[in-house]
Amino acid sequence: MEHRPIKNFVIFSHIDHGKSTLADRLLEITGTIAPGKMKPQYLDMMELEREKGITIKMQPVRMEYEHKGQKYILNLIDTPGHVDFSYEVSRSLEAVEGAILLVDASKGIQAQTLANLDLVKKQKLVIIPAVNKIDMPQAEVEKTVEELAVLLEIDKDKIFKISGKLGINVDKILDAVISKVPSPKINIEAPLRALIFDSVYDSYKGVIAFVRVIDGKIKNGDKIRLLAAKAKSEAREIGYFKPQLVKIDTLSSGEIGYIATGIKEPGLVRTGDTIALDDGLKVEALPGYKEVSPMVFASFYPENPDDFAVLKDALGKLKLTDPALVYEQETKEALGRGFRCGFLGTLHTEIISERLSREFNLELVISTPSVVYKVIDSKGNEELIYSATDWPDQSSIKESQEPWVDLEIITPVEFIGAISEILKSLRTNYIDTKYISFNRAILIYEAPLAEIITNFYDKLKGVSKGYASMNYKVIGYRKSNLVKMEILIAGVKEEAFSKIVPNEKSFQEGKNLVVKLKENLPSQQFSVALQAIVGGKIIARETMKSRMKDVTGYLYGGDYSRKRKLLEKQKKGKKLLKEKGVVRVPTKVFLEVFRG
Ligand code: GTP
Repeated sequence: MEHRPIKNFVIFSHIDHGKSTLADRLLEITGTIAPGKMKPQYLDMMELEREKGITIKMQPVRMEYEHKGQKYILNLIDTPGHVDFSYEVSRSLEAVEGAILLVDASKGIQAQTLANLDLVKKQKLVIIPAVNKIDMPQAEVEKTVEELAVLLEIDKDKIFKISGKLGINVDKILDAVISKVPSPKINIEAPLRALIFDSVYDSYKGVIAFVRVIDGKIKNGDKIRLLAAKAKSEAREIGYFKPQLVKIDTLSSGEIGYIATGIKEPGLVRTGDTIALDDGLKVEALPGYKEVSPMVFASFYPENPDDFAVLKDALGKLKLTDPALVYEQETKEALGRGFRCGFLGTLHTEIISERLSREFNLELVISTPSVVYKVIDSKGNEELIYSATDWPDQSSIKESQEPWVDLEIITPVEFIGAISEILKSLRTNYIDTKYISFNRAILIYEAPLAEIITNFYDKLKGVSKGYASMNYKVIGYRKSNLVKMEILIAGVKEEAFSKIVPNEKSFQEGKNLVVKLKENLPSQQFSVALQAIVGGKIIARETMKSRMKDVTGYLYGGDYSRKRKLLEKQKKGKKLLKEKGVVRVPTKVFLEVFRG
């Protein structure tokens, strides 16, 4: 076969700076997608991604392109921009040699531009910088080019000015990928070593591992083994992404593609593991990936206890496509059998819960997302608390602690005042302000993680017209006066809504929560009291008015005895419900309430 050099690269940026749209143009120019089949953000294939307009999953795609008489294979990986999905970015970087960095000309450099740039630099990838959306009326092209040139310490003329939407200068980006991104090191004679950077479950082909072949080659039907998991199987099918799976006979060193492993147990195929041939040759495992540490925990319980096995299976399958998700089985008296799950942030929590309900049809009870607290008892024993349900009796606590972070907020200078106001209300410590250009600053604070993972990001966006962005790193535990707040709905404790709060903010937190519940719970046929309690004392209360339904409405007038009977029956029913205090909380209410 003719030699076709390979170029492997990612597109990275802050959220919404136009990665998927640029990918659309690249798919068009290279003829990967037929013109009639194109739809915006083509690589955002999940229904949830299209609905929310954000990329959640990285998506590899192989394109073929002829440049100056030479044919090339271009493997592109589109990555998410939101901080909660940064593990997707870091994993994709191990599979490529180059990276297109996009900065939106109407927004300038934002937090994930910097955070992802750090990752790209560590990986020593070749960077192709571009200022995007130059067609927008509010684009500040020259200013953004200047900012980016300063950040990257390069000349301004090295930065491309493009519009992914209109296709302006996109061909130049493609030329730069070909001329600047080095082809991967090819080591075809060595024993096979393929890095698993992602995977997905298929009920016929078993787990499909997304791989970058580092050394050697693999043919359809080859016997394989996974070095870390020590599992053996056979390559049932191999191929590449277009982005749909396209079967081929061999994958070789330097290429990106997939191996259908035939393995049906999701837990055996882990990202970062190495696939080798099962031919008796000794091979050293590739370094793999660092495990991620979850930032928030929430417990998921099936509303119907019979669905426990479905939930367990669903989590296993979701973890394949999202290795940042961690989970562990737990049993709680009030909630039954479920799983304590760890996430990178609240958007991540929300996405996983939505996927469980859409893709697996599960109705869930979800406990309030919580950071990991530490309590120390009078004997000096330390305990980590992942959920408010596990909070010990207040009298046994000598000291409580919570995780703190270094918080960096990047903002145009005109919003510094408004942002500082919000931060003042959040138990934060101001550290410093740095300027990255004459009109853009980085505000540096220390803050309790719990204060910024809930709805701080939305507030930040709100006061800065969407321009400010943030990033944070955990720095350790600090002492804090924390208490457990509990929620009663119609007099019954709803353990899932329990929450750990700083004592001094408990009134405000309690009020917010009951108001939020009132707005979101479906009204019942009886009035419902919503109460927040701390240490046995009611600190906030709201009442949901009853929705009196006229059950007799459909009867013909005149049939009084039937009407009376029905009304009586309804009364009885209401009494029963009231006694039992049955207020069903739909999954979506949990999510709404936690959104803050
Ligand atoms: P995430 O993956 O969620 O981080 O987003 P993304 O970086 O992939 O951005 P996406 O391509 O989804 O674009 C975000 C929004 O910007 C969409 O509404 C696009 O239509 C718009 N957009 C992207 N590129 C351009 C451009 O060159 N010009 C204009 N005017 N709009 C653009």
